[in-house]
Amino acid sequence: MARHLITSALPYINGIKHLGNMVGSMLPADVYARYLRQRGHDVLYICATDEHGTPAELAAKERGLPVAEFCAQAHDAQKAVYDGFHLAFDHFGRSSSEQNAELTQHFARKLNENGFIEERAIRQVYSPADGRFLPDRYVEGTCPHCGYDKARGDQCENCTRVLDPTDLINPRSAISGSTELEIRETKHLFLLQSKLQGEVEAWIDEVADEWPQLSSSIARKWLTEGLNDRAITRDLDWGVPVPADTWPELAADGKVFYVWFDAPIEYIGSTKEWADATGNDWKSWWYEPAGASDVRYTEFMAKDNVPFHSVMFPATEMGVREPWKKVDYLKGFNWLTYYGGKFSTSQKRGVFTDQALEILPADYWRYFLIANAPESDDSSFTWEHFTATVNKDLADTLGNFVNRVLSFSRKRFGDDVPEGGEPGEAEQKLGVEIARLLAEYEEQMEALQFRKAAAALRALWSAGNSYLEEKAPWLEIKTNKEGAALTLRTAMNLIHLYSVVSEPFIPASAAAMRAAFALADDTRTWVTADEAKALTTVPAGTAFTVPPVLFAKITDEDLESYKERFGGEPAAS
Ligand code: 2FM
Ligand code: ZN
Repeated sequence: MARHLITSALPYINGIKHLGNMVGSMLPADVYARYLRQRGHDVLYICATDEHGTPAELAAKERGLPVAEFCAQAHDAQKAVYDGFHLAFDHFGRSSSEQNAELTQHFARKLNENGFIEERAIRQVYSPADGRFLPDRYVEGTCPHCGYDKARGDQCENCTRVLDPTDLINPRSAISGSTELEIRETKHLFLLQSKLQGEVEAWIDEVADEWPQLSSSIARKWLTEGLNDRAITRDLDWGVPVPADTWPELAADGKVFYVWFDAPIEYIGSTKEWADATGNDWKSWWYEPAGASDVRYTEFMAKDNVPFHSVMFPATEMGVREPWKKVDYLKGFNWLTYYGGKFSTSQKRGVFTDQALEILPADYWRYFLIANAPESDDSSFTWEHFTATVNKDLADTLGNFVNRVLSFSRKRFGDDVPEGGEPGEAEQKLGVEIARLLAEYEEQMEALQFRKAAAALRALWSAGNSYLEEKAPWLEIKTNKEGAALTLRTAMNLIHLYSVVSEPFIPASAAAMRAAFALADDTRTWVTADEAKALTTVPAGTAFTVPPVLFAKITDEDLESYKERFGGEPAAS
């Protein structure tokens, strides 16, 4: 059994995230973490809110709150939504923590000692209309590479290229829209990434072949363009302060580290927060003794985050010249679109995670999103597709099976699992099929192929339906009561198997299915191939209850009301 460290990209603090954020980072990480835990691995799933930077300052200003207070409230609000989605983090921390500040300053001092940081006077965009230096992402303009007209000064969302504000064509302030921008001189720390290019390339050659093509191709594209030295400090009031022991002048000037410098370090910081709170050890997860680690580290993120995690953060870790754990497997995702257009937090387009939970329980969303995860390509959310998937897969295939089998058995055989005769040909055939599909499901989960894993899970549910249709116990019972009892006992064993293997996708419904059976010591975490074949884990005589309907169907009226509330049309371009 291995140790698995899992992180998902840290959500920005500035607002509740939409479903597109959820499907590209936290949700698949949670599904994977749950699966590995069930398989008996030692798993540590870490996430946190990303609390520094201008977006936090501006959001606080909008609410009329001091930034620290805004962040504390916004952190709790996000955490409540993630609890609602049943995201089972081992720790959900805050990048504004003490632990992160200490680690970030440590990283910076070490990089400096090793010759990877340089102080440079730079000319920066100043907006007289806003009375401030504009951080990169608050300068907007046209991307010089692809022509996208809403590119930000740090990165073009459209072609993912990393930019400098001065690269933009027709730049303007994203705060006031002012185009009267000035350039003023100020001093900042630069991370000399260019010196680490060769090392990062060699490391990418070693590890990235195993990554999804999306992740490795973005990493390679970025390296081909060349690693540029980057400013890692900003003129903001809110952030990790530049340490005065090393840079007294900059510290006196009130410079803080750039949010993208301290955010990935918070993966470690959050682990330390967890360790400090629980008395656990954090260092063995992150610090590799003599380069050898028994930890496998998997990261989850959307494609715009890939350059920072595949190249920039590893370069930082390398430059520190201490054996910090680097990512082993980087699972990148494409975009989930809303009717083919962009989900957008700022333009309030699409469904936000808190709204989703107001409408339907988490499991409906979890299943739909993972079954349609934008893995090899972008995928589109539409209410029609969502409704059809919920009704067909969850309500008809799984929920109806569970309810039908348990209700019918109770009606005809009482409150205990009936005995019935010896398994026959149909049961043998079913067992072989279930074992085959379980192996397929496991293979896809191990490979982090979530859509394919969802398809295998769906096939497991369907196999139960086919068996039930074939045996038709409601007819069988008229001529062969023993045979009908066997069919129902077998079907109940399938329900129990579903409760175990569906847990990563639909944890609440899985728990309800499992709780239907009064099994004295049901501590099993997974199903072996032999158990899948035999389908006898729940013995005759086990008491059971019929849970309330697991999944309600979405009606035509529901569908219409969702479309009306959220919009059910492609984005006007
Ligand atoms: O893109 C984002 O939402 C960032 N907040 C992700 C940060 S991930 C990590 F580096 F902290
Ligand atoms: Zn572009």
